[in-house]
Amino acid sequence: MTTTTALPAPVPAATGDGQRGSIELRGVRKLYGNVAAVDDLDLTVRPGEFVTLLGPSGSGKTTTMMMIAGFEELTSGTVLIDGKPVDRLPPKDRDLGIVFQSYALFPHMSAAENVEFPLRMRSVPRAERRRRAEEALARVGLAGLGDRRPRQMSGGQQQRVALARALVFNPAALLLDEPMAALDKRLREQMQDEVKTLQKSLGISVVFVTHDQDEAMSMSDRIVVMRDGKIVQEGAPEDVYAHPRTDWVANFLGDTNLLPCTVLERKDGMAVVDLGAWGVGRVRDRGVDGDAYAVSVRPEHLRFVDAGRTENGGTGRIVSSTVLGATVRHRLQVAGQDVVMRELGTGSGAARDLRGEVSVGWSADEAQLLVLES
Ligand SMILES: Nc1ncnc2c1ncn2[C@@H]1O[C@H](COP(=O)(O)OP(=O)(O)OP(=O)(O)O)[C@@H](O)[C@H]1O
Ligand SMILES: [Mg+2]
Repeated sequence: MTTTTALPAPVPAATGDGQRGSIELRGVRKLYGNVAAVDDLDLTVRPGEFVTLLGPSGSGKTTTMMMIAGFEELTSGTVLIDGKPVDRLPPKDRDLGIVFQSYALFPHMSAAENVEFPLRMRSVPRAERRRRAEEALARVGLAGLGDRRPRQMSGGQQQRVALARALVFNPAALLLDEPMAALDKRLREQMQDEVKTLQKSLGISVVFVTHDQDEAMSMSDRIVVMRDGKIVQEGAPEDVYAHPRTDWVANFLGDTNLLPCTVLERKDGMAVVDLGAWGVGRVRDRGVDGDAYAVSVRPEHLRFVDAGRTENGGTGRIVSSTVLGATVRHRLQVAGQDVVMRELGTGSGAARDLRGEVSVGWSADEAQLLVLES
């Protein structure tokens, strides 16, 4: 048994109606003393949807999960699972499979006994427990390893046992709070693929927590960006990445160049902006409103252009070029500002004279008008 084999075809979820597993948070709030760890949160997870809570440390992700799971009481608001309020239900009656980073396996039990545990709590007869635990272990690629103790397994295998334990009772939904934080990069990426494949084939809803933006981008149907206990933006990963509402979201989800600007005109989803030393330019406009604005241009959307063709862009010089394997990162000084540019391959820029003048530009559809918060 290697860890790289594909997962066996899973057993379909018992209900088969595809409508199980909705989670709804209405006005959910959690105060610790007078600090709001979670502040008036509204969130709906549809059956079969993979929703990721993404935010920096202390933004309220775990607190939100604990309230959904029933380990923390709400200060106010309601949690509904499959349309029914669960605020009075203990965790074990909420029908949720849970893998929390702190939820370690029981070290004195074998993998199979660990996986059987939720079934024992539900008084499932012994023979059926055995059968279902074996099935769940096979589903996560661990067939035949049921007799091992956690300490006889790798970090990735232990994580799979935890996943099998969460899945074994056919829950309505899965709550995964940084389940891969302890794994190294390669194993983590492999587990990401496996969890995603498993989730899709089971059609189970997942609420996932991470503060790793790449993990959030690659796994989610929807990303919910949290800051200080509040949702600051949500949407499909590519949407949030392409259309950040604020400089904070743009910076949190990847690298970007922020060019402060004054809005001259807004029409038909485009804005004409005055960028000071960069001149006047055109960018996409999703209608965000604030006191101050900037244009966000992702490093991969800056390109070298011919001198003079700088409607959206400016002229300056390359400060450094670093080859990062598949891409090259250029640092430039353009119109008095430091900017970063990323090119695929060795790129056209790598061959350029570092002392010479270069012009860079962006296409109006790839740059975004956003609100400057900080
Ligand atoms: N039991 C508690 N008592 C008091 N304050 C708490 C408690 N649990 C969490 N907090 C506070 O609530 C806020 C949100 O914490 P939470 O654990 O939900 O953050 P998080 O987004 O999961 O962060 P991380 O990425 O570090 O896991 C933090 O300011 C934290 O200090
Ligand atoms: Mg946390």
